Amino acid sequence: MRKPVSAANWKMHKTSGEASAFVEELRSKILDEPQVDIILCASSTVLFHIGTGPNESAIQFGAQNCHWENEGAFTGEVSPEMILDCGAQWVIVGHSERRHLFGETDEDVARKFSAAVSAGLRPILCIGETLDERQSGSTSEVIKRQLSAVISQTEEEAFDQAVIAYEPVWAIGTGITADTSQIEEAHQIIRDFIMNKDEKLATEIRILYGGSVKPGNAAELIGIEGVDGFLVGGASLSVDSFMEITQGISDHYDKG
Ligand code: PGA
Repeated sequence: MRKPVSAANWKMHKTSGEASAFVEELRSKILDEPQVDIILCASSTVLFHIGTGPNESAIQFGAQNCHWENEGAFTGEVSPEMILDCGAQWVIVGHSERRHLFGETDEDVARKFSAAVSAGLRPILCIGETLDERQSGSTSEVIKRQLSAVISQTEEEAFDQAVIAYEPVWAIGTGITADTSQIEEAHQIIRDFIMNKDEKLATEIRILYGGSVKPGNAAELIGIEGVDGFLVGGASLSVDSFMEITQGISDHYDKG
């Protein structure tokens, strides 16, 4: 069975003090061996403070972006090795805000994915269509194009370490969630695409949903066929709402 994931994307929020307080409170609320992979993706300035704390497996840490080189003249960038050095195990690549606000191309995302895996980081690869793309009927084409760009630059084995997050751009931070059939269909497109490359990988890879996940809709969303967890933005900023979402995932799996 695929272990479910509850991942927080704090975006550009939280100072080191706020992040440390969050982690401390979260730690006091979760069991030693949670049935869900809990991953906190923080800004790079904060990672070192929270990532090098007590050695534990209950909470894992991630960055929200990385460069594809490990060092060099890239002012302002942070490399996969630097992220690892902060005690993080994960990195988000291809988040829609990186693609649409900072102009990252499919090729940039592919290079980042590949560099992250080579350095020993596990990527959370974000893909998803804009509203225009959905309305013009090109959702499937966009998803496949984004996946293909990464697969063509990486060994398929690199995906063993990865998680995919389907995040329709129009649902991120808008309060609008995709509906059940839209999510189920997109997740199926992703799994079928991978199935054509590698059957085992397709059954094992975890595909998350992201886009306005909240405590009030988590129980319903986790019940959708093919959804293995969430990448949560706004609702991950408070321990209580993030815990409620995580608990919702866990309860669903307990019920089998
Ligand atoms: P949201 O963000 O939960 O605030 O919609 C999700 C994301 O950006 O990963």
